Parts: sequence; structure tokens; C-alpha cells
Amino acid sequence: MKYGFIGCGNMGGAIAKALSKSTTDIALSDRSGKGKALAAQLGITYSDNASIAVSCSRIFLGVKPHMMKDCLAKLQDTLSQRKPLLITMAAGLEIRQIEEFAGTRLPVIRIMPNTPTAIGKGVIQYCCNDLVTESVLADWLEDMAPCGLLDSLDESLIDAASAISGSGPAYMYVFLEALADGAVACGVPRAKAYEYAAMTMIGSAEMYLATKQHPGALKDAVCSPGGSTIAGLRAMEDGGFRSAAMEGVIATYKRNKELGK
Ligand SMILES: NC(=O)c1ccc[n+]([C@@H]2O[C@H](COP(=O)([O-])OP(=O)(O)OC[C@H]3O[C@@H](n4cnc5c(N)ncnc54)[C@H](OP(=O)(O)O)[C@@H]3O)[C@@H](O)[C@H]2O)c1
Repeated sequence: MKYGFIGCGNMGGAIAKALSKSTTDIALSDRSGKGKALAAQLGITYSDNASIAVSCSRIFLGVKPHMMKDCLAKLQDTLSQRKPLLITMAAGLEIRQIEEFAGTRLPVIRIMPNTPTAIGKGVIQYCCNDLVTESVLADWLEDMAPCGLLDSLDESLIDAASAISGSGPAYMYVFLEALADGAVACGVPRAKAYEYAAMTMIGSAEMYLATKQHPGALKDAVCSPGGSTIAGLRAMEDGGFRSAAMEGVIATYKRNKELGK
């Protein structure tokens, strides 16, 4: 089989959903059997860790970072013999640690994805060790195209990038909810408030990407002198808006670093 997933929860499952648009040559595995329903929904196979290690040429590791060591320890013999491509998404764990847990040198791609991958709007940074050949990487990138943006990044920056895009959807959903709560407090029906807030986030982000204008200039275009938007921004700044966003990203980065220890 081409692809296996050891762990198919929130993140592994999101990648499996997108990847299944390129190929259905995929097997999923987890502990509880929850992955069976996802496999049935995507028209792919449900299996177990040992079978995936024996039969798949490319294996996504979708377990939590603290479970990785034990999980790979049980597969060391097979991995040493077959040397499949491992694709790790674990926050904080470096490629050298994955090789160490696998008990052998083998090709490893480290990715840092985010959950919008499930709908093809993900951001995925990736880096590889020296055993990943150019042709394997090119083929993998082609298969991963339905996931969204894939960007090569030096491993030393993956934890920092993860603090903005890997964890970012959580920040965005809290912001979305907070904006909508504000609108609801002003009388807008909740469903409309979510839709307006979400479309405003999409539109503003797409406008930045399309124009590449400085975010400050795009903000200035909305703030008339003495107007209502600048009054709202002032209130947000009074609540520590920018500082809270910056400190949040830095706290996530620090925690990523701790997870690898
Ligand atoms: N969530 C995100 O937004 C995000 C973003 C970037 C990176 N990541 C990374 O993605 C990885 C998974 O995170 P997650 O949020 O997807 O966690 P999750 O939803 O808890 O999923 C973990 C998966 O691993 C399975 N699992 C645990 N032990 C296993 C074992 N021994 N053998 C096979 N499967 C096993 C679980 O199965 P059961 O459910 O059956 O226990 C579940 O399917 C983590 O390393 C995390 O750092 C996550």
C-alpha cells in the first residue's frame, strides 16, 4: 500500500481527508477503532499499526508527541528492515528524534500542518532528512496538493512557524467567536454574526494575499479620522489586543520546544 496513517485523529484525519482526493491507496490505524468510520467515509482501508509498518511505503505518524517513542518502539524491527518513508506531524519532535525512536536511519519528512487541510485550505511547512530523494519528495508533493499550501522550511524554524499556522486555527476561531459575541451583544442574530465575521476574516486575508499591501495600510483604509472603527480599535488596544496575539504565539512556540524534550 502507498500510504498508511498511524493515528488518524484531528490532524491525521484532516490530512487523510485531503490526501484521499489524490489517491485512495491509504490505510488508517488508531487505538480505539474510531478511524473505521473515517475509512468507510473516504473509501479507504482500516488496518493496524503492525500491518501498516509491514505493507505501506509511506507512513504518516499522527499520534501525540509524547506517545511517539512507545509507538515506534514496537515497530522498530519492521522499520529497520523496510525503511519506509515516515512523515511526522508531531509538534516539537525533531527528525533526529524520529530516527532515534524508529531505531534506524530512514527517510523522514517532518511536516507542520493545520486542520483546514481537511478542506484543502491548509498551511503545511515541511523539511526532510538527506535520505528523502528528490523524486520521492516530488511525488509526495503532488499527492499532497489537495491539502493546500505546502512550503519548504528549514527545520530550525518549524516550531516557530507552527506557533502561527499549526496552532493558528484555534486563535482564529476564538477571534471569530469573540467578534460574533460582540455583534450579538449589539443585537445581530448569532448565525448571521458568525457568517459576517468569518467572511470578513476570509476577505481581509485574501485581500492581503492579493495586494501584499502592508497590513497597517489596509487597516488605515478602514479607519476614518474621528470615526467609529478607530474608536473600536482603540478599545481593543486598551484590552491588550496586539500584545495578547504576540504573547500567544510566543507561548505556543515555547511549549512546542518543551514538547520535544
Ligand atoms: N490538532 C492540530 O491542529 C495539530 C496541528 C499540527 C500538528 N499536530 C500534531 O498532530 C499529532 C496528532 O494530534 P491530534 O490533534 O490529531 O491528536 P488526536 O486528535 O488526539 O489524534 C491522535 C491519534 O493518535 C491515535 N493513537 C494514539 N496512540 C496510538 C497508537 N499507539 N497507535 C495508533 N494510533 C494511536 C489516536 O487514536 P484513538 O483516538 O483511537 O486513541 C488518534 O487517532 C500531534 O503530534 C500534534 O502535535 C496537530
